[in-house]
Amino acid sequence: MKRIEAVVRPEKLQDVKNALVNIGATGMTLEDVRGFGRQKGQTSTYRGISYTVEFLTKKRLVLVVPDDQLDLILQTVTSAAATGTIGDGKIFVSSVEEAIRIRTGETGEPAL
Ligand SMILES: Nc1ncnc2c1ncn2[C@@H]1O[C@H](COP(=O)(O)OP(=O)(O)OP(=O)(O)O)[C@@H](O)[C@H]1O
Ligand SMILES: [Mg+2]
Repeated sequence: MKRIEAVVRPEKLQDVKNALVNIGATGMTLEDVRGFGRQKGQTSTYRGISYTVEFLTKKRLVLVVPDDQLDLILQTVTSAAATGTIGDGKIFVSSVEEAIRIRTGETGEPAL
């Protein structure tokens, strides 16, 4: 199992969610987050120089998915979240050792 953490633009959240549901995602967690990337939160500069670092509002989607769905989900998020301009977001992938579906006691990928 893989954990996908996608930090996306708030205005792209619905597009990303709908695209993920359409390809069969069984669940996800949404968090309101703030952060900055390479531009240090600057959306414009004064005389080309920025002095402050600002946190920008983003949405973070977390999904744990079966290994064989990873590539499709990464492509889907990337495509749905993109505008082609700075601040489109970032995706982090990590390995997950175990999952448990509390109601049924299922474990591993069947629990997802
Ligand atoms: N290295 C990182 N570690 C943790 N979070 C990050 C990292 N890079 C970006 N983020 C998160 O992703 C959000 C969006 O990042 P952003 O898309 O601006 O990345 P970038 O590397 O600056 O790319 P771009 O040049 O396209 O803007 C940030 O506000 C922050 O929340
Ligand atoms: Mg950036």
